[in-house]
Amino acid sequence: MAKTVLIASGKGGVGKSTSACALGKALADMGKRTLIVDCDAGMNSVNVMLRCAERCVFNWYDVSAGQCEAENAPVQLSENLSVLAAPATALQEDASDAVRDTVLKLQDGFDFVILDAPAGLGRGLTRAANAAKTALIVATGDRVSVQAAATVANTLREKGFGELRLLLNRYDVRAAKRRNYLTIDEMIDLSCVQLLGIVPEDKKIMYSTVTEETPELVRSARAFRRIARRICGEDVPLKLSLLK
Ligand SMILES: Nc1ncnc2c1ncn2[C@@H]1O[C@H](COP(=O)(O)OP(=O)(O)OP(=O)(O)O)[C@@H](O)[C@H]1O
Ligand SMILES: [Mg+2]
Repeated sequence: MAKTVLIASGKGGVGKSTSACALGKALADMGKRTLIVDCDAGMNSVNVMLRCAERCVFNWYDVSAGQCEAENAPVQLSENLSVLAAPATALQEDASDAVRDTVLKLQDGFDFVILDAPAGLGRGLTRAANAAKTALIVATGDRVSVQAAATVANTLREKGFGELRLLLNRYDVRAAKRRNYLTIDEMIDLSCVQLLGIVPEDKKIMYSTVTEETPELVRSARAFRRIARRICGEDVPLKLSLLK
């Protein structure tokens, strides 16, 4: 049975979909059979980032509505990486179990299911959270984003999530030195979530870390590899020097 990992955030645009793709790719490169599920109905990003949108004919809502067999819905991108799209338009109904029901049918075929949630606390989060057991909350280094991460973390705790971790994205060493950002300790204190990893600001993230073969020299790709190893249970120390 797959380990299910929800990728959530309070504020939008902090890098959830990017992280879902990069982590999915890192896990697949480690030999883990990985399914990335886009849970953002009407706002598919994962299949656009991974350049397979035209191949995504079915989505999880089609499966839950009985219009498609679960095993026919994901699109396989490589030996270990598959993508399941969200519906192309916003849903008018709650469909709160649609993602969970689909994931339950698919999870025996995967080691990891990564669920890319929409930002915030709405029913899109509930739909994605219902399908997951662990969560990674993404935030950038500003107070608003970290405060919002704390709110999402509390909401997920109320839903029964035990394993919550923080992914600090777009960390900029120079901005941190100028004190334009919170310190890492302040972020952990304010969010009340244990830090899993830090991903640096990296202009090459879309073209190298997410889309192309992962080059060893790309900083964000290295960061996601370390985070993927931690998700797999390896003890990989945080090395701030590697972010420079
Ligand atoms: N570490 C990074 N360095 C530089 N740019 C980044 C980084 N992470 C994400 N970005 C950029 O930030 C933008 C938003 O990323 P993304 O779409 O993944 O955010 P999101 O949280 O999924 O947004 P939404 O809330 O709308 O779903 C994209 O242009 C992406 O390339
Ligand atoms: Mg997104």
